[in-house]
Amino acid sequence: MQLPRLLMFLLAAVMIILAGCQTSSEPPVVAVRPTDSPERAAMIAADQNLVTGQTVYNLRCAHCHGYAGEGQLLSTVPNTEQLGLHTVPPHDATGHTWQHPSQLIELVVLNGIQNPLEHYPMPPFEGVVTETEIDQLIAYMSLWWTDDQRAWQAQVTQRRAELDAEYEVNGK
Ligand code: HEC
Repeated sequence: MQLPRLLMFLLAAVMIILAGCQTSSEPPVVAVRPTDSPERAAMIAADQNLVTGQTVYNLRCAHCHGYAGEGQLLSTVPNTEQLGLHTVPPHDATGHTWQHPSQLIELVVLNGIQNPLEHYPMPPFEGVVTETEIDQLIAYMSLWWTDDQRAWQAQVTQRRAELDAEYEVNGK
């Protein structure tokens, strides 16, 4: 009976370490422009791309991803998790949308994300939103990001365009 006990102890230790990792890898609290600030509203009003991005976002995305890009309504998260399904991720600075190049975000929006149960927790929007509107959506969502996140996202988008061009040159 010594071995199982040792195993249990090791398992508990690993779980404690993993739990610790999860806490420390939580995104840092960042200061972003409040969604309803007059400064932000004026910035959107001055740019037709942002106006369209906001309209399309509020119409097509906000009921799942949150009007301020905050992600799934908190009170519904435990139920989704108990069903073993993915929750709706935030698009603001606490999420990871900014880590992806625009080309990838465009694919996600056009094709949606299918889970192994053949559900589409993220529905496809092909034929519903245009590629221009997706660019406008990304510009609008990027208002929730920090300067560093915006710079990073621009960099990976640029890199992705270079890679795409390279592959095209090589005939794929
Ligand atoms: C019916 C709810 C729903 C709607 C409406 C919806 N989404 Fe999603 N979206 C999801 C879910 C759920 C996921 C996560 C799917 C997964 O990981 O399995 C997701 C994931 C994403 C991702 C990937 C995020 C990341 O960081 O990897 C992007 C980008 C995205 N959605 C953008 C949009 C945009 C833009 C719209 C509006 C045009 C939209 N979504 C509308 C539910 C929705």
